[in-house]
Amino acid sequence: MSDADIGLIGLGTMGAALALNIADNGFEVAVWNRTTARTQEFAKEAGPFLASQITPTETLKDLVAAIRAPRAIILMVPAGQPVDDQIAALAPLLSPGDLIIDAGNANFRDTNRRSAATGNIGFFGIGVSGGEEGARNGPSIMAGGDAAHWSRVETILTAIAADFQGSPCVAYLGPEGAGHFVKTVHNGIEYADMQMIAETYGLMRDGMEMTAPEIGNVFSGWNDGPLKSYLIEISATVARTQDAATNGPLLDVIVDAAGQKGTGRWTAIEAQHIAAPVPVIEAAVAARNLSARRDARAEMEALFGTGPVPLNGDITLDEMEQALTAGKILCYSQGFGMIAAASNEFGWDLSLPDVARVWREGCIIRSAMLDDMAAALSDDPKRALMAAPVFAEILAETHVALRKVVGAAVAHGIAVPALSSGLAYFDTMRTARGTANMIQGQRDYFGLHGFERLDDGSSGQHGPWAV
Ligand code: 6PG
Repeated sequence: MSDADIGLIGLGTMGAALALNIADNGFEVAVWNRTTARTQEFAKEAGPFLASQITPTETLKDLVAAIRAPRAIILMVPAGQPVDDQIAALAPLLSPGDLIIDAGNANFRDTNRRSAATGNIGFFGIGVSGGEEGARNGPSIMAGGDAAHWSRVETILTAIAADFQGSPCVAYLGPEGAGHFVKTVHNGIEYADMQMIAETYGLMRDGMEMTAPEIGNVFSGWNDGPLKSYLIEISATVARTQDAATNGPLLDVIVDAAGQKGTGRWTAIEAQHIAAPVPVIEAAVAARNLSARRDARAEMEALFGTGPVPLNGDITLDEMEQALTAGKILCYSQGFGMIAAASNEFGWDLSLPDVARVWREGCIIRSAMLDDMAAALSDDPKRALMAAPVFAEILAETHVALRKVVGAAVAHGIAVPALSSGLAYFDTMRTARGTANMIQGQRDYFGLHGFERLDDGSSGQHGPWAV
């Protein structure tokens, strides 16, 4: 009985796909689901080829008995309370030295807490990206927790991970919730990438009066250039897909309110906690929240009307591609900056090149650019990504188009919050003499907070503020 290499709890879409992936790679996996009917259905779906690799179990006790000690058990259950409930049910059945691995989209603070609370049962957190297809055929895996626990699961996780030109897209990133933290930033970037693509879709749809399939063709063309990525590729397919019921583009009948499970929002929240500036991600999160307010938007449109929409040839599709390229570089520069800030704040010693390498394949934000990012970060992990020569050169060329595109959008009343946020970030970062001297003056005026003088470097200075 007890010869499975690993256990897996939770046979939802992601859990089932991950279990099949593990079995497919030659490991024996024992599985358990809250409802036995689902376990049986899963075993049937797995088919005879994988049957010898998979042990379906009906009780948690049976699951534990089916795994070779010391045991490693992956949890693939919804984040939050269900993970705590599952740990509470499982832990009493385990023995010292066994290991629980949370592979869901956990909040890294929960992972920190759980790592500290499971006593002589180990706890390890892995961020898994790539949706169902990734989980089945090779996800990107961001691991965090005790290095000793990593060595227990490294072989299996490496075997099941996506492959980028012979290099597995999995890495042990750091202690505690480091893996889940990096996955959270991944999702924040995912939100921003998606929002910036949606903004260019809006410019083409509302500003250039292009049809969805025409826009799909543009995305498809962009996928042959510097923007080559999974998200651009699927956006092309999404835009081109026809709806059988209306005989028109499916995109045209989809409600314009984006859902969210929360990880993008956590990125913005954590960024504020550690004072890491990620304005493009914050703009994307805010845009998702605003998208849900459909009634309010309809009311405001009735009240204020829409702006003069057509762009009248003010910008070209090429300029839009360049603007998106610039926005993407600025956003990733912020995201990696946030990971570096967290590494300092929590003493995690995260490797930014490893993060970029793990994101090159398997995950939702995979893109051609990430390989260059990995190289640029390896070259100098302390330098801001936007300042790496290869990206500085692209930005020097493309920021002109970003300004033109944002300018045209603003002039014609088309909202491009993430792209304009990227531009504002760029302008802020290349302004050595900013405007916060005024803020320091105001703070000193009303609260005697003091300021530092530029001329003699003295600090703790005050007014007088009288004229
Ligand atoms: C991934 C994704 C995934 C996420 C979905 C939905 O890396 O595979 O990030 O983990 O859950 O994309 O996220 P939202 O519901 O927040 O859009």
